Amino acid sequence: MTMEKAKDYAELSEMAAARIISKLSTKPDSVLGLATGSTPEGMYEALIKAYKERNVSFAEAVTFNLDEYVGLESNDENSYAYYMNKKLFSHIDISPENAHLPNGKSDDLDAACADYERMIENAGGIDLQVIGIGLNGHIGFNEPHTPFEQRTHIVELDETTRNANARFFADLDSVPKHAITMGIQNIMESKELLLLVAGEQKASVLERLVYGDKTEAFPASIIKDHPNVTIIADQGALSGLKAADYQTGD
Ligand code: GLP
Repeated sequence: MTMEKAKDYAELSEMAAARIISKLSTKPDSVLGLATGSTPEGMYEALIKAYKERNVSFAEAVTFNLDEYVGLESNDENSYAYYMNKKLFSHIDISPENAHLPNGKSDDLDAACADYERMIENAGGIDLQVIGIGLNGHIGFNEPHTPFEQRTHIVELDETTRNANARFFADLDSVPKHAITMGIQNIMESKELLLLVAGEQKASVLERLVYGDKTEAFPASIIKDHPNVTIIADQGALSGLKAADYQTGD
């Protein structure tokens, strides 16, 4: 596990975008795993800028998002499909048929999970998966006590997660109770993992990830077993760690 320190959120976003740009320059048809939430927003802005400056193209790229709420239309502004279109896809040259999210509006959600698995497999698996981390250690929407071997599935969202995400909705009651998410096993099968952690509110989460044990009670703890994982964290998120435990980049 490699840790890279960013001095602030802007630098974290640039560093994360640089990883994706570099991946696409060596393999233009890379399969990218993408995440939502506040943390990757700056990375998406940096990618759009790089695209406009002709420093990257997504023309051959294929993407799979980690998760989607159950029951929201893709044009609902709280759906992750809407988020991705607004914050990235509509600004770059990706083919819409290559940009995938789980279908949380399916009448048959189990079939939607199986379809998603099949699509990832047919694409050859994920080359680089970007993830964030929830306050309870969730990755994607894999809440505490999700079995590590779980694949794409439907989850009942934890109250911590619904409360944390309520800021995007009119009120807590409007936050969906279920989501469809890639499983921890899917995340672990990605050839490369990039975890982004920003802000002091994530300091104790990162501390637990780095110093704590591997346990299903803290889903992100599994990533320590991944052979190729990089964590990019900003100063605030790193405030609970000993300096010797991360590279300063100086
Ligand atoms: C959300 C998403 C996760 C995301 C996490 C952290 O619930 N499902 O994929 O990583 O919570 O979000 P944020 O970056 O806003 O802190």
